[in-house]
Amino acid sequence: MKKRILSGVQPSGNIHLGNYLGALRNWVALQHEYESFFCIVNLHAITVPQDPAELAAKTRELARIYLAVGIDPKVSTIFVQSDVSQHAELAWVLNCITRMSELERMTQFKEKARRQRENVGVGIFDYPVLMAADILLYQADLVPVGEDQKQHLELTRDLAERFNRDYGETFRVPEPFIPPVGARIMSLSDPTKKMSKSDEDERGAIGLLDDPDTVRNKFRRAVTDSGMEIRFDQRRPAIHNLLTIYQLLTGQTREEIEAHFSGRGYAQLKSELAEVTIEFLRPLQERIRAVGDDELNRLLAEGAERARSIAAETYRLVKERMGLVGAR
Ligand code: TYM
Repeated sequence: MKKRILSGVQPSGNIHLGNYLGALRNWVALQHEYESFFCIVNLHAITVPQDPAELAAKTRELARIYLAVGIDPKVSTIFVQSDVSQHAELAWVLNCITRMSELERMTQFKEKARRQRENVGVGIFDYPVLMAADILLYQADLVPVGEDQKQHLELTRDLAERFNRDYGETFRVPEPFIPPVGARIMSLSDPTKKMSKSDEDERGAIGLLDDPDTVRNKFRRAVTDSGMEIRFDQRRPAIHNLLTIYQLLTGQTREEIEAHFSGRGYAQLKSELAEVTIEFLRPLQERIRAVGDDELNRLLAEGAERARSIAAETYRLVKERMGLVGAR
C-alpha cells in the first residue's frame, strides 16, 4: 500500500512564492509516490476575523491554485476542510488530551498573541490541535510543509503517541517533510522575517497572482545587504534569499548561478530575478483562470467525498477506543 501525505494552506491573504517554494511545489513532486490529500484549511483561516464573501472566494481561488501548480486530481484528493466535519470533531477529542502549556509554548501563537495583546482568540490558541486533527484523521505518514510548521508537527506527533499509549494503537505517527532549500523564504522588505501572507507591508511578498509590473517593483525595491558580491552567503540574508528564489525557479545549481552573476551588480540580479518570476507566473496565472466553475464544483465535491470516507473511518475508531458510544 502506498504511504500517505496530507498538507494544507489557509485561504487567507495572498498566496505567495514562499507558500509555493516551501510547500506546494513539493506536494506536486511527491504526489505520484504517495496517496495524497491536499486540504484548503478554511477553519484555520477563521481563527482571525474574515469577511465571509471574501473567504468563500479565496477558498475557491486556492483550489484553482492547487490545480494550476500541478496537483493532479486524478491521483490526489483536493478538498475543503469545513466539508469534512470530522476535523472539528477530532480536534475536540484531541483538545482533551492536550495541555495548556504545550500550546502556550508554540512560537506562532506567542507571536500572534504579542500582536493582539488582549483578547487573543481561543481559536488561535487551539490552532495547532486542529492541525493535528487534519493530519491524524488521514493517517498521514508524511506532511510536506515549510519550516515554520515544524513545531506544530512535533505537537501532532506527541498527541498521536499519547493517544496511542492511553487508548491503544490508533494513529499513525507522521513525519514532517521540510525541503532542504526553500523551507523558509524571507520577506523582500525585511530579510530577518519570513515572507508572510499577513505581513502589513505588501512589498515583502510576491503573490502568485501579482502582475508583471508589481513583481518588477517589488524586486526593485527589495532590501539588499551591504557588500557587492553575488554569492550564496548565509551571513548576507537578503542576497541569499534572492538567490535561493532564483535557484528554485530556474533549477540551476548554485555554482552556475554564482558564475552567471560574477562581476554583476545587485540591480542586475533583481531585474533578472523579476523576469524569471514573471515567466514562471505567466502560465500559472493562465491555468488559474482556465479552471471553470463547474469543473471546480465537481472536483471539490468528489474530493470531499473521498476525504470523508477516510476521516469517518478514523473517527469511528477513535470513538470506539474512547468509549464514545450512544444509542445502539
Ligand atoms: P500557511 O497557510 O501559513 O502556509 C502554507 C504552507 O506554506 C509554507 N510557508 C512557507 N514556506 C517557505 N517560506 C515561507 N516564507 C513560507 N510561508 C509559509 C508553510 O510552512 C505551509 O506549509 N498551519 C498551516 C496550515 C495547515 C496545515 C495543516 C499544514 C493546517 N492544517 C495540516 C499541514 C498539515 C499554515 O498556516 O500554513
